[in-house]
Amino acid sequence: MNVFQGRTIVLGVGGGIAAYRVCELARLFMKRGADVRVVMTENAQRFVTAGTFQALTGNPVLTDLFDLHQKAIFGHLETGKRADLFIVAPATANLIARIRFGMGDDAVTTSLLSSACPVLIAPAMNFQMWRNAQVQENVAALERDTRFAFVGPEVGTLAEGAVGEGRLSEPEDILEAAEALLTPQDFVGRQLVITAGPTREYLDPVRFLSNPSTGRMGFALAHAAAIRGAAVTLISGPVELKTPRGVRRVDVTSADEMFLAAKLAIDGADVFIASAAVCDQRPAKREDHKVKKEDFGDSLSLTRTPDVLHELRALYGEAAFPERPLFVGFAAETDHILEHAQKKLAQKRLDLIAANDVTAPGSGFATATNQLTILSREGQQSHLDIMSKEEAAHRFLDVVRARFPKS
Ligand code: CTP
Repeated sequence: MNVFQGRTIVLGVGGGIAAYRVCELARLFMKRGADVRVVMTENAQRFVTAGTFQALTGNPVLTDLFDLHQKAIFGHLETGKRADLFIVAPATANLIARIRFGMGDDAVTTSLLSSACPVLIAPAMNFQMWRNAQVQENVAALERDTRFAFVGPEVGTLAEGAVGEGRLSEPEDILEAAEALLTPQDFVGRQLVITAGPTREYLDPVRFLSNPSTGRMGFALAHAAAIRGAAVTLISGPVELKTPRGVRRVDVTSADEMFLAAKLAIDGADVFIASAAVCDQRPAKREDHKVKKEDFGDSLSLTRTPDVLHELRALYGEAAFPERPLFVGFAAETDHILEHAQKKLAQKRLDLIAANDVTAPGSGFATATNQLTILSREGQQSHLDIMSKEEAAHRFLDVVRARFPKS
């Protein structure tokens, strides 16, 4: 689901040193298929020129309300009318105050006043200014209005070298916040627990058993659920991925740790999705010191790890959803895909299982795409043809949502 495709995003650029980072933001939106329109305050142009944004976006830039040419091709009323989302970045203390009081004294504030779309404000200023009581009062007043949302500022090194809260959020984080504002909030009030990634089962401090899972599918599910309004706990094995915005992440290493973390998190959850590639065995003994190669025998003695999904489902016995969480599993297979998946669905007493052929091109471990067949306990089947894991995550969540009782 690409909510930016064909949408008009207006970037209202304020006069702060972070204005240069909005160039990157414009580029990110364009990459996602948005029509990006830039409006700038006079001070913003002291940091970045209108020409830079014009070249980047391929659209005229609005800077001067009284310039007849600008008015003719791209006036403030036109900008406001077109906008699907208005982003103010960097929002300076001055700009925030002017927005709060409904002033319309430059290109950014007048365009904002003439628009009716959601507004995302990304502040950036010195940390003492950000802490100032009047600034905070203006922010609080805007936050009370459902039309306005804030992203950041972040704690970090500020332009003048001081460390504090006041840095403009990363362009990727602003993009994610924007994505949530344009996405239907159909998971609000729902709690999801998702396991992701591989586990590692150590035999000594430097050697372990594991698998090639990168966690991408689970992280895509966590991201998709969070931007649709869910409260998400993501229990992740060792992976290289960034935590999606707004997601509570619990890092674990072994299957035992994943089981304990999941057992704690599942209390009160509406949905439990097990997308982790949990190791089914671990070495029977874990040595405290590195084992010398001559001390290894020819075989490794193994014991079973807990089946996280199966054991958690068993805790709820005969209870039916929604008196218990909805249980969703994955079946990573290399042969007899649907047969094996069907068997796991029944054995683990799941509500849904997503089967995937990990040997098919563009599917399975460490790929950007996936191809899934979702089976339900009632025998329904839906096939998600090859698509990005992000898109597959949204389609999968549609199937999950369809099982919620109608309210
Ligand atoms: N699973 C789990 N804990 C385990 C093993 C599996 O939670 N110790 C979950 C997986 O996250 C997945 C489902 O169970 O949702 C099926 O996992 P899979 O590895 O495909 O199957 P297994 O049950 O391990 O069976 P097998 O390895 O024999 O195919």
